[in-house]
Amino acid sequence: MKVFYKVSELQSYLAKFKQNNSLGFVPTMGALHAGHISLIKRAKQENELNVTSIFVNPTQFDKEEDLIKYPKTLNSDLEKLQGYCDLVFVPSVEEIYPEVVSSKQFNFNGLDKTMEGAFRKGHFDGVGTVVKRLFEIVEPTKAYFGEKDFQQLTIIKKMVELEGLSVEIIDCPIEREKDGLAMSSRNQRLTADQRAEAPIIFKTLQMARAMFPDKEISAIRKMVEDTFKNNPVLKLEYFEIADIETLQPTDQKIDNKTYRAFIAVFADTVRLIDNIALN
Ligand code: PAF
Repeated sequence: MKVFYKVSELQSYLAKFKQNNSLGFVPTMGALHAGHISLIKRAKQENELNVTSIFVNPTQFDKEEDLIKYPKTLNSDLEKLQGYCDLVFVPSVEEIYPEVVSSKQFNFNGLDKTMEGAFRKGHFDGVGTVVKRLFEIVEPTKAYFGEKDFQQLTIIKKMVELEGLSVEIIDCPIEREKDGLAMSSRNQRLTADQRAEAPIIFKTLQMARAMFPDKEISAIRKMVEDTFKNNPVLKLEYFEIADIETLQPTDQKIDNKTYRAFIAVFADTVRLIDNIALN
């Protein structure tokens, strides 16, 4: 496994790699867990060479406090990548943002205005900016993203279309702990009590899915709100059912449309998100 810190060094290594070989790419912000490793294993299986980037992107954090608290665990991340990853790219902020540390403004056609976008201003412009920059540096054949961040995945596909990039975006299923909690770098910030309570998030989504064929969306929403109303540890930020094409939340089911339920919950200052396919 080779580790690169400079754009120029990574690019000159990749230039020697034959053009008709496929290159798989997994962008991350580090604090790696089994969910990331499953993406990297898939990138390894499906490509001749794979690259993982580790970069905590400042422009996608709407709160300075979250950026400061984001776990930075480079040494253990590098250990976890051994055996799965061919090349690791660990750029500095100056390598990624050589001129100014700011986001490009994209027109994502409203995909970025709901749910995560409504609660985290500027987040998706930051994600779009860094992923575009990383794609331009690495020039991957395929890039792998988890469905846990389903809205991010949809917006990255849109960014690739808007910018005319040739990378293929591969959706990967959510990896879960045995009790159903979606794997996330933020889980390591949970206290024992919060961690014990957290599986209720996925259980609630499963209940929403069970209700979806026969119940009104308003009844499903009430079930979710009631579940969290008296919870001493977890506070509901939002629960939405949205059409997967437009990501616009809805209260009316329309035949032939495909829906997912999306949830965000706070355990004190730790924000957890999850989602589930409904039909
Ligand atoms: O999902 C993440 O870890 C980040 O949003 C990403 C895609 C690596 C961009 O910084």
